[in-house]
Amino acid sequence: MKASDTATASLDARAVREQFPIFRAERAKPLRYLDSAATSQKPDAVIEAMDRYYGTINANIHRGIYRIAEEATAAYEDARRRLADFIGARSPRELIFTSNSTAAINLVAYAWGRSQLEAGDAIVLTVMEHHANLVPWQILAAERDVELRFIPITGSGELDLAALPTLLADGRVKLVGAVHISNVLGTVNPIAEIARQAHAAGARMLVDASQSVPHCPVDVQALGCDFFAFTGHKMLGPTGIGGLWARRELLEAMPPFMGGGEMIREVKLTGSKWNELPWKFEAGTMPIAEAIGLGAAVDYLRSLGMERVFAHDRELVAYAMERLREVPGLTLLGPSEDKRGGVIAFTLDGIHPHDVATVLDDDGVAVRAGHHCAMPLHEALGVPASARASFHCYSLPEEVDALVAGLHRARKVFAR
Ligand SMILES: Cc1ncc(COP(=O)(O)O)c(C=O)c1O
Repeated sequence: MKASDTATASLDARAVREQFPIFRAERAKPLRYLDSAATSQKPDAVIEAMDRYYGTINANIHRGIYRIAEEATAAYEDARRRLADFIGARSPRELIFTSNSTAAINLVAYAWGRSQLEAGDAIVLTVMEHHANLVPWQILAAERDVELRFIPITGSGELDLAALPTLLADGRVKLVGAVHISNVLGTVNPIAEIARQAHAAGARMLVDASQSVPHCPVDVQALGCDFFAFTGHKMLGPTGIGGLWARRELLEAMPPFMGGGEMIREVKLTGSKWNELPWKFEAGTMPIAEAIGLGAAVDYLRSLGMERVFAHDRELVAYAMERLREVPGLTLLGPSEDKRGGVIAFTLDGIHPHDVATVLDDDGVAVRAGHHCAMPLHEALGVPASARASFHCYSLPEEVDALVAGLHRARKVFAR
C-alpha cells in the first residue's frame, strides 16, 4: 500500500491486521488486543527489517571500515533520516536515538536541566503527565531546589489553560513540559498554544509525544516546541529504541549525558572532546537493529498515512464510547470523542479494574488496568485506578464489541 493511492480512502484495518503476525498466530481464542497505548504490535515489515540486519549486515556501526559495517552504519543513519523527516525535524542531526521516551526525557533533565536550572527556578508540568515526564523533574527539583508547578485539569479531563498565565507570571519558569496526548484520558492537548505562552514567559517547551507520534501527523516546527520525546515500541517499532528531537542550538550547548565510546572526538588521559551532533549523545553501542526496525515502522506508518491512522483511532473511540455508555455502572474518564485520540479509560461501579481485566482476559480481550503510570492524574480524578482500552491501525470494531460483552459478563460475575 502506498500513501499516494490511499490518501483519501479510509484505513482498511482488516487488510492492515493481516500484516501483523501476532494476529495470524494460532490460539485457543482470538486475540482482541486493546492495549496499544502500552505497546503496539509489530508488522512483518519491521520484523523482517531487523532480521535482514542480523542475517546479512550485522556489524557494529561508525567503527568498521569493511563492507557490512559500512552498510550497517548506512542503514542506521538512514533510519534516523526517515524518523527526523517523519516528525518535521530540519536536520537528522537534531534527532538523538535513545532507548525510549523515558530515556529521552531523562536526557533533557540531566544534560539540559542540570546545566541550566538553579535554586529558585521553576518548572511547569501538567497533572496528566505520565510518570516519565514527572519523576525525572522531581529528582532534579529536589537536587537543585527547583519548584514544580502544575497545570490542573478541568472536570472534563482537559488542561485548564486559564491557570497557565498565573503559573508563568513571576518569570521564574525555565521549562514547561506537557504530554501531547494523554495515555489515560486520550485528551489531545493544545501544545502550540502552551508553547507560545511558555516562550513568551522565557521558558523552554518539552513535549512528551509518546502517544501522538505513533497515531497522528506531527510536526515539531508547527508545535513550536524545543524538546520532543517519543518511543519506538508504541509506533509499531521494536522495544529498546526511541528518540529525542531538540533544537540544534540547545543540543549544541548541552553537555553530554553519558560518557563512553562514540560520543567523543578525542580522548586523552587528561580530558576529552565531544563528538558532533547527534553522536555526542549516543554513548556506547546503540540498539542498531532496533533503530533499523523503527525506520521500517516509519515507512510502514507513512504507507498507511498518519491522517488515516488517526481518523481510524477516532472512529473506533467514538464507537467504543457509544457502546460503553450501554454498560450500567460504567463511568468514562476524559473528554468527548472529538477531543481525544484512540484511548479510553473507564471505571465500573463496585468492580476493581484488575478484576475487570481478569474477566476480559478469559474472553481473549487484553486491556490495561491500574494507574497507567499516572498516579497523580488518578488522584485528581478521584479514582485509585481505571481500566483502559486503546487502539491502533489494526484494531477492529468487533474487538470493541468483545470488550462490551466482557464487561456485561464481569457485572454478572461480580453481582453474585
Ligand atoms: C504518555 C507517555 N509518556 C511516556 C511513556 C513512557 O514510554 P517508555 O516506557 O517507552 O519510555 C508512556 C508509556 O506508556 C506514555 O504513555
